[in-house]
Amino acid sequence: MKLAWLTDIHLNFLKEGARLKFYQEIVKTNSDAILLTGDIAEAPSVSALLREMCSHVKKPIYFVLGNHDFYKGQVDDVKKEMLQLTNDEALLFWMPAAGCQTLEKDIVLVGQDGWADGRLGDYYHSICSMYDSRMIADLFQQSILGKKQLLEKMQQLADHDAAQLKDNLTQAIAQQAKKIIVLTHIPPFPEASMHKGKMCDDSYLPFFTAKATGDILLPIAKENPTIEFLVLCGHTHSAAVYQPCTNLIVKAGAAEYYKPKVQEIITF
Ligand SMILES: [Fe+2]
Repeated sequence: MKLAWLTDIHLNFLKEGARLKFYQEIVKTNSDAILLTGDIAEAPSVSALLREMCSHVKKPIYFVLGNHDFYKGQVDDVKKEMLQLTNDEALLFWMPAAGCQTLEKDIVLVGQDGWADGRLGDYYHSICSMYDSRMIADLFQQSILGKKQLLEKMQQLADHDAAQLKDNLTQAIAQQAKKIIVLTHIPPFPEASMHKGKMCDDSYLPFFTAKATGDILLPIAKENPTIEFLVLCGHTHSAAVYQPCTNLIVKAGAAEYYKPKVQEIITF
């Protein structure tokens, strides 16, 4: 089986011609399915662009959303739209709605969007100002109330997705999976969160890691040493590979605005 992994493709920045060219690049890989780890577009365009991509690629697209996919929208509204999309389009799978997907015997795919949770680095002294708190209605409302209220909202979103991931992983393990592929947007460990060849500093880590996700993944991987866990994520736009224990590998994808690419072909 051949899977094409894409991340942070930001299709809304591209003109139609450039998007069609990119879809043809994906088709040329001759993959059986597409794995997409978020930042596909923005709330007003993400559904339409996923449908467009699907109509050209004509293969299953398993995806999670990134923070940009909620820009100019409300979190719950976007989630409802993705649920609808997954129900309407046979080849589109928003992983939080799709649940465990068996790709091949013993190989199970799961995924949750994930949110940066401000738990790593130094949130209160950070000089980093993220667009998220201006562009996502739920975060904007909390940021007006204060830094503490914004942090609480970030953590509420992150903890919800981490709890869902725990349920997904428990189910995948119960299905006797030998290999579990996890899609998520935010790197779950600081070592997977790179910027210009170095780990993100204390100002950026609060917004570039989801500790909640890492805290679910690592103990589950250690408790299940015979299962291989591969976590694919994005968000930083910087490539990273981190192996916190023998059976858990985390890969973050490199990305450039206006230049979407196929990150990696995964075969098994
Ligand atoms: Fe992102």
